[in-house]
This record gives sequence, C-alpha cells and structure tokens, in this order.
Amino acid sequence: MTTPTPASSNDNGELTSRLLSEAAYAKIAREVAKYPPDQKQAAVMASLTIAQQEKGWMSPEVVEDVANTLGMPPIAVHEVATFYTMYNTAPVGRFKLTVCTNLPCALRHGDRAGQYLQRTLGVGYGETTTDGVFSLREGECMGACADAPVLLVNDTRMESFCDEVKLDALLEELRAKAPGVNPGNRVDVA
Ligand code: FES
Repeated sequence: MTTPTPASSNDNGELTSRLLSEAAYAKIAREVAKYPPDQKQAAVMASLTIAQQEKGWMSPEVVEDVANTLGMPPIAVHEVATFYTMYNTAPVGRFKLTVCTNLPCALRHGDRAGQYLQRTLGVGYGETTTDGVFSLREGECMGACADAPVLLVNDTRMESFCDEVKLDALLEELRAKAPGVNPGNRVDVA
C-alpha cells in the first residue's frame, strides 16, 4: 500500500491530486529527464507503466494525475492508455493472461489455447475469474510468432508453445502464488 502525496498544482496553476507515491514520481522524473524539457510527453508510456505497476490499473483519476505530471491534456493520456492493451483501464485479477490471437498464432492453434483457457477458467475474454485470480484478454502480435502460440502473463512474462499441458502447468503455478485472493471479486477487463 502506497501513501498518496499531497496535492500540487499543474502548469495552469490549478490544484491537482497526487495519487502516486513519491517513489513513483521520482521514477517518472527519471523517464522525463531522458528527453528535452519541452518533450516531457515522450515519457507518457513509461509513466503509465510506472503508475500501473503501483495502482494495478489506470483509473481516470490516475490518468489525470499522469497527465498533470507530464503537462499533457488528460484526454491525450487517456488515448494512449486505451490504445495499448498492456494498460488496464479497469481492475484486473492477480494474473492477467493475454492470449495472442493474431494470424500466425492462430495458424499454430492459438485459438485452441484461448478456448481451453476460457473453458478451464470459466470466463470469456475481457473477464476475471470469480476468485479474482485470473483475467483473460486477447492480444495483438507479441513479436514471437516463431514460438506460437504465445501468451503474456501480466504483460511481462511470455509463455511459448502453449498447448494444454503447458497451460495446465502455468495455471497451477500461478494459482499457488495467489492463495490470499478473495472470492467473489469478479470484474470486467476494459
Ligand atoms: S502472431 Fe502471435 S506472436 Fe506474432
């Protein structure tokens, strides 16, 4: 649990909420420092990633906070957050499984992997299991077509050649890591 920092003002002098920790703002500042002073917006994707790592998902308030931090219009940051599938615009489960459904993976039975996960977890794409452990999503090509079919766990860990045996082992491994997740926590993934 992070402690929000006090309110501050944006470039227009308006009072704004600061919802992230000082550590998160410091990380964002390091990303911003990689670009010329008038190009702070170039750090928007890295900043959203930092915010999501801390908050779990990008609420409209967090999007606005990132926008204020970068001196950008909130709608511009919202457009980035809703364009890329790695950003969660609604709460997700402990583990987000993003199955690649593009053609090369589909030709190597990616559709079968997705259907198997839907049957096994009892959810469709864009949904979260009732115990709050897994969210299932469709994703675009992950640049690993030679390993098809593939999926991503929480946007960072790639699983290759996902047949049913591998998927069973993955689900078992991940479930073991989430013993404290509360049941009755079903939410939709935006
Ligand atoms: S189509 Fe799935 S990784 Fe490229």
